Amino acid sequence: MAAGIAEVAARGGIRAIIRARSEASLASALKQINGGLSRQVEKGKLDVAERDRILANISTTTDLRKLSDCDIIIESVVEDLTTKQELFRELDVIAKPSAILATNTSTLSVVEMAKVTKRPDQVCGIHFFNPATVLPLVEIVRPITASDDTISLATEFVRAIGKDGVQVLDRAGFIVNALLFPYLNNAIRMLDAGTASMEDIDTAMKGGCNFPMGPFALLDLVGLDTSLSILETLHASFGDDNFAPHPRLRELVAHGRLGRKTKAGFYVY
Ligand code: 3HC
Repeated sequence: MAAGIAEVAARGGIRAIIRARSEASLASALKQINGGLSRQVEKGKLDVAERDRILANISTTTDLRKLSDCDIIIESVVEDLTTKQELFRELDVIAKPSAILATNTSTLSVVEMAKVTKRPDQVCGIHFFNPATVLPLVEIVRPITASDDTISLATEFVRAIGKDGVQVLDRAGFIVNALLFPYLNNAIRMLDAGTASMEDIDTAMKGGCNFPMGPFALLDLVGLDTSLSILETLHASFGDDNFAPHPRLRELVAHGRLGRKTKAGFYVY
């Protein structure tokens, strides 16, 4: 997701720095970006000069301190509040005073990240959708602590990178995931009840609702570990059993079948 966000920003003419803990992660992010852009050049959708301009806007580092001059920092680490809070504490120290600290969290409470910083008014959610280079939507999440200026700057940034921004309050799942995940979870229940095969459920939702992909293909795209953590957070937050993660999802995650990224999830790739 981080690679996709950096590419989208770079396309919008913004200089982006990708920070990861290891050189290996950075190499894989750059490989993803290079691969996607080269495919577009091959398809004639992008010229070489434009590709080079986008790539020139992207740099990488393993050193968090290299982000000290950034105007906006968007974290996109694992969906674990403690990990995110630790990162926000560090970012608060290294980021310049005017910088906005944003989270790409899918469901976690943004105010819980804001409150560990000394700039809670400058913290918000900027939530992209998979694949970030393709899907037009970005949710701009407003925790109770955020100032109007922060939300305006985040909105301006989203517009500058050519995405469609929507504003939403800091409630678990925001707009999209709060509506999408009960549907995905219920698809697993339907499969488990033997109502139809996985392939037929996917075909039905594509052909019957004009969705670009069916629920099982989408779960595999999002990642089953991410999907499990989203459902757990939604369930804990709303107490609604529609959000209680189906045991089959837990089982697949426990077996390391995380979706496309591990080449196996509901489907095998
Ligand atoms: N990563 C990057 N780019 C991808 C991609 C991927 N995994 N898959 C496809 N693309 C690109 C292709 O390169 C192509 O780009 P181009 O038009 O510039 O050539 C474009 O997407 C269309 O691809 P295809 O023609 O090969 O395939 P489709 O037309 O079937 O589209 C799709 C693929 C864009 C993934 C489409 O099926 C889709 O939109 N699916 C629904 C995705 C969705 O609902 N995402 C939201 C998930 S929820 C979420 O992300 C929230 C988070 O918090 C978990």
